Amino acid sequence: MAYYTLLGFEKEPFSTSPDPLFFYLTKEHDTSLTNILIELHLKRGLSVIFGDIGTGKTSLSRLLVQELRKRSNMLFHIILNPVYENERQFLTALIRNYGIDVLFNIDPAQCDVLELRDTFEKFLIQKAIEDKQTIVLIIDEAQKLDMSMLETLRVLLNFETNEHKLLQLVLLGQVELYPKIVNMPNFMDRISFKYTLNPLDVKETRELINFRVKTAGYNSRMDLFLDEAVSEIYNYTRGYPRKITKLCHQVLKELILQNKHAVDRILVRDVIAKEEQYKLGSIEFPQSFNVNRT
Ligand SMILES: Nc1ncnc2c1ncn2[C@@H]1O[C@H](COP(=O)(O)OP(=O)(O)OP(=O)(O)O)[C@@H](O)[C@H]1O
Ligand SMILES: [Mg+2]
Repeated sequence: MAYYTLLGFEKEPFSTSPDPLFFYLTKEHDTSLTNILIELHLKRGLSVIFGDIGTGKTSLSRLLVQELRKRSNMLFHIILNPVYENERQFLTALIRNYGIDVLFNIDPAQCDVLELRDTFEKFLIQKAIEDKQTIVLIIDEAQKLDMSMLETLRVLLNFETNEHKLLQLVLLGQVELYPKIVNMPNFMDRISFKYTLNPLDVKETRELINFRVKTAGYNSRMDLFLDEAVSEIYNYTRGYPRKITKLCHQVLKELILQNKHAVDRILVRDVIAKEEQYKLGSIEFPQSFNVNRT
């Protein structure tokens, strides 16, 4: 029997997978999602979301994909790990993923970079102008893009009509992405919406925890996490969603072990003490960056 059913849950409340069902739309996540959708609607070209490790970028991208699926005029593809050896490999991947090779009956392996670019542009013209589709490319982990890939993306963003861009690009990346694109004024200039996801405050931390608990099917009238426990969780995690979910998961297991009915401060402290002991036995790399809203 799964541990969470013992507590009256139907689903695991603090799984770390980026499931849209368990995504609590904080003000910042909501603002970024709404603005990305507006930019896509207006075909403004380039949106960039920055965020420290574990602030919800991948989860946000899943939510965006869910939204795009509801719209029949959106033709989109998401790249989860944008690591390519060269421009040719990248363009080949794009052409295959959008089904352009099938559409134009070509073999990208037989084409050089210029032919691949031309093919992609032909596809954009056909789909975006003739078929009135919005072509969207979402790239998660965009901090992994190297300068040459960013340059390729800049070239693709140059395909445009008088009114709008033919390709809509959404980048989501850790804060290391920022200095990379700051060094490329040509790229920077093309950003129409940029936003930085910050960690949650204590109120949002409480809301996220309660949201996940309810979504997982807990329906007692009593709060499972007491306010004092939430404060403790916030102090330890500093509002980073991944750290919150991981800690809460451990806390619920401890709740069962200690045979308690609600999570209080002492229980959270016990779990944190265990975590710290565990850390002492392993190497920890510092994870914090100085995040400023852009
Ligand atoms: N708004 C949210 N509501 C609920 N859970 C969230 C929220 N934001 C993030 N999480 C949870 O936090 C964890 C980390 O989220 P996610 O993987 O989206 O972060 P990330 O910014 O992509 O991290 P990384 O920088 O490592 O790629 C996941 O378990 C996710 O479910
Ligand atoms: Mg991610």
